[in-house]
Amino acid sequence: MTKRPNAMLAPSILAARFSKLGDELRAVESAGADMIHVDVMDGHFVPNITIGPPVVRDLRTVTRLPLDCHLMIEAPDRYLGDFAAAGADKISVHAEACRHLHRTIQVIKGLGCQAGVALNPATGLEAVLPILEDLDFVLLMTVNPGFGGQKFIESVVPKITALRRIADDRHPALAIQVDGGVVVDNVARLHQAGADWFVAGTAIFGQSEYGAVIERFRALLGLESASGRRVGA
Ligand code: DX5
Ligand code: ZN
Repeated sequence: MTKRPNAMLAPSILAARFSKLGDELRAVESAGADMIHVDVMDGHFVPNITIGPPVVRDLRTVTRLPLDCHLMIEAPDRYLGDFAAAGADKISVHAEACRHLHRTIQVIKGLGCQAGVALNPATGLEAVLPILEDLDFVLLMTVNPGFGGQKFIESVVPKITALRRIADDRHPALAIQVDGGVVVDNVARLHQAGADWFVAGTAIFGQSEYGAVIERFRALLGLESASGRRVGA
């Protein structure tokens, strides 16, 4: 029987020092990050602008960790090829920004990337249920997308539990990713509720000691200590 995916910790570089991105990536990689979450914002879908494919291409040269590109942009189809060519391993698009979601997912997979759909806190699971088996992961936003450092929205927790229950029945290998306001104080509870991949920006990069906070996250998720594991293994 296929089992639920392993827990993974995904530091979001939105909260990193952009002038030293290479150093920041190397620091969280050696501290025990499992993937790097890259928040792409276009100033239209969300009221903020961040980074695009050229930055992803440069990040690709400094880390072996999977690059997880969260596209908070309108009409993401226009840029899927660029992100895949830049070295993205996982790409998520927002259901709210896609007119032909099934087609968009097939394109992402055709480019050789894992495909995910992100849902805003106010968007119901109905938006992904018809195509659940086509997805590698569903990203449940636990804040409204656009900015780091926001407060976790508690009402998303039952949505995590409901999706895990449906996935256990229909698609156990589906990973549920949570993003926004994830901190050491709620991560174990979110794992328990059914989440598998944990994005954390401020909670990691806001600390002076990345190693200590990542170790804390790993322990709370039941993962082995980073010192006992080889990156990429
Ligand atoms: C918000 C982004 C998040 C953000 C999370 O729109 O999608 O990935 O970086 O930041 P924290 O962990 O600070 O809430
Ligand atoms: Zn994100």
